Order: sequence, then C-alpha cells, then structure tokens
Amino acid sequence: MKQDMIVILDLGSTENTVLAREIRALGVYSEIYPHDITKAELEALSNVKGIIIYGGPNNVVDGVEIDVNSEIYEAGIPVMSIAHDKAKCSEKYDTYEAALPELKKFVLDTCHAETNWNMENFIADQIELIRKQVGDRKVLLALSGGVDSSVVAALLIKAIGKQLVCVHVNHGLMRKGESESVIEVFKNQMDANLIYVDATERYLTKLEGVADPEQKRKIIGAEFIRIFEEEARKLDGIDFLAQGTIYPDIVESGTKTAKVVKSHHNVGGLPEDLKFELVEPLKQLFKDEVRLCGVALGLPEEMVYRQPFPGPGLGVRCLGAITRERLEAVREADAILREEFHNAGLDRKVWQYFTVVPDFKSVGVRNNARSYEYPVIIRAVNTIDAMSASIEKLDWDVLLKITDRIMNEVPNVNRVCYDLSPKPNATIEWE
Ligand code: XMP
Repeated sequence: MKQDMIVILDLGSTENTVLAREIRALGVYSEIYPHDITKAELEALSNVKGIIIYGGPNNVVDGVEIDVNSEIYEAGIPVMSIAHDKAKCSEKYDTYEAALPELKKFVLDTCHAETNWNMENFIADQIELIRKQVGDRKVLLALSGGVDSSVVAALLIKAIGKQLVCVHVNHGLMRKGESESVIEVFKNQMDANLIYVDATERYLTKLEGVADPEQKRKIIGAEFIRIFEEEARKLDGIDFLAQGTIYPDIVESGTKTAKVVKSHHNVGGLPEDLKFELVEPLKQLFKDEVRLCGVALGLPEEMVYRQPFPGPGLGVRCLGAITRERLEAVREADAILREEFHNAGLDRKVWQYFTVVPDFKSVGVRNNARSYEYPVIIRAVNTIDAMSASIEKLDWDVLLKITDRIMNEVPNVNRVCYDLSPKPNATIEWE
C-alpha cells in the first residue's frame, strides 16, 4: 500500500520537520524534499496529493535567492505556500502560525489526502518491504537496547523471525539490569536469534588507568567495532545489516544548499570486506513515531520511553580512570535514582537524570569513626535538543529520600550532591 503524501519543499525554513509532524498528526504522511525537485520527480513519487512550499531565513545560497522549479505549478497538484512571497499559487500564508489553522482544510478538503498514516499500516507495509528486500537471507543487527535498535529488532523479528541475528555487546558500562532486560525481552519473550557478548573484562582491562574523557570515548567506540566485527566474521552468509536510522538523521532542513537529504549514517569503522546491504525500516519515522511503533510491536514501555543514554554508558559518569569500585557505586546509585524517580512520577517528566561518581574522596563519619569515601552527584535536566539544558527543580523530599537511600545502600559513598548547573556553562554529562 502506498500512502497518500503531502510533500514539503524546503525553501530555507528551519521548521520543515515541525510542519511534517503536524501533517502526520492529521493522519496523512508527509516528507520533506529539496526545493529544486522537478515535475518529473514529483510525478515519479506517484502518490503526492499536495505540495507545501515552505520558505524561510535560509533561502539565499551563494548570494542568490533560491526558488522552486516553476514547472511544479503545472503538475496538477494543489500548492500552498508559507513565507514565500513569489509563489504562484492560490493559497499563501505569511507565517506558519497563519497557515496552521488552514492546514487541515488544505490537506483533507483541497488535496483529498486519505488519512491512512498510522502505526498499524506502517508496520504492515514495512513487514512486506523487509520480506521483499531480504527474501530468505540473513540480517545482522547490533542491539544495544536503546530505543531505535530495540524497535528495529522487534520489527525485523516480526518480519523475518530467526533470519535476524542480533548481537548485544555488554561493555560492562550498562546501567543496572539493562543487558538482562535485553535478553529477557528479545530472547525469552520474542524468541530472537540473539548473541550475547559479555565484554566487561575486556573493556575494563582496556580502560585501566585511562583518565582522559576523549581517550575513554575512543577506546569504548573502537572496541565495540572490533567486537562486532569479530562476531560478524564468525557468522556465515549474512548479507544485510539493519540500522536504526530515523528520519531526523536523514533530513537536514535549512542547510546552506537547502538540500534536505544528507547521507545516511553509515556503520562507521566496519572494514571494507565486511560489506553489507543496509536495512533501515525506521528511516521514515520521527522519534515519537518510533516510540509509538515500539509500543504497537509490544515492546515494554520502559524500553520504548527510556531516557537518552550515551553510547559510552556509565564510562563517562565514573569520572577519570574507571575503577570497579566506583563503577559499581555509580551503577547502584543510578538504579536508586531511577527507582525513586519512577515512584515520584518523574521518569516520564524529566528528560534525563543520572548519577556521577568523581575520582576523589572526602572525609565523613561512619559508625563513630572517620571515613574517607566518594561523593555521588545527582543530575536531572530538561532540554528540547540537548544543545542547551535547564535543571529540574526537584522536590526537596524526593532529593532527601534519594540521598538517604544512596547513603545507606551504596558502599563507599559518604556524600550526595545535587548539580544545579545549566548548559551552558556546564554540559549535560560530566565528561
Ligand atoms: P552533553 O554532555 O554534550 O550531552 O551536554 C548532550 C547529550 O548527548 C549525550 N551524550 C552522548 N551520547 N555518545 C552518545 O551517544 C556520547 O559520547 C555522548 N556524550 C554525551 C548526553 O547523554 C546528552 O543526552
């Protein structure tokens, strides 16, 4: 089934994706295309019911004001324009705010687009497409347990079952229970073909004595590629690699060239002779749609709505040179924090929250004796795009409860602090 589509032509607006989301929320599929798409290219898409030209501040390239191909007005497709004063169409609005109340009428009444964009249809379509692409061959997936890779896994399991081979690498820097939950959900519940690699010792050995944050990140990233490659070489007859590429990864609105599609994220680092064809079933979806898709596929809500977690994991929250003692402290404290945030109903409200353990000690008192132990720092932030962030004004009682539990339950800790710093000047992570 090919869904009806409203095409947004990127004429330098920075809000193209917001508009696309708005149209999809009406139940009609929408995609963003470069401003200079030709009439033939539009017709080749075959299911375009309407066009919206969306102008904005980035409409000058190399000193020349860009415009759409005038032939598109002759394609027999209704055209609306927003903030593009030279558009030759009947429906023109100066601003997004002015266009918004008219959007539904344009999409449904003027364009007669069918409202068939929903997750059930999307999943059915993708299953058909994946089966057509893959046939009876095999697909490899690096399953981190993050939202995108988990949803890709669930979709592929539904489409091709055991032809999907998932590799989950536990680098020992996961949060408490995380690898266990990947195994429980995918191996036990969904009966996936899952290879579990416990690389904890390997990572901790490589990271021993390494204090520089960038160096730590590099080691963690490079080691992942190496392990994944080793596993891939052990397997026979794999032709495809699945990736959790999502729509924002391939759309870049308002660039200098006003071209919207940038190259797909590749599996950076895999050697040349490990050539795979890519399977990217989520590449049409926005993040919130990926979550809806995950729920529709039966994934647990904790997995689908989990907060962002950096690739290097707890490795960048156990500051300086990682030690097992402090790694356990940061993991246990993080588990307590997450549990108490859940109990207080904050887990879906606060964007990201975690604990940090620095590599210095302070003096305290325990059992009437002098102690010399680590502090735990709590961080809880809200943000739209992670470029800037504000701190969550946490309820005092919640903070005290968490502090009390960390003090009593986490070994080697004698202090708890709350980080009040916004980004900038701080970053969200400590390393
Ligand atoms: P910062 O610390 O730069 O973090 O303010 C912004 C967001 O990015 C996440 N982050 C990372 N994610 N690999 C990742 O996949 C990394 O190396 C990394 N460093 C930071 C961070 O958790 C926050 O959501």
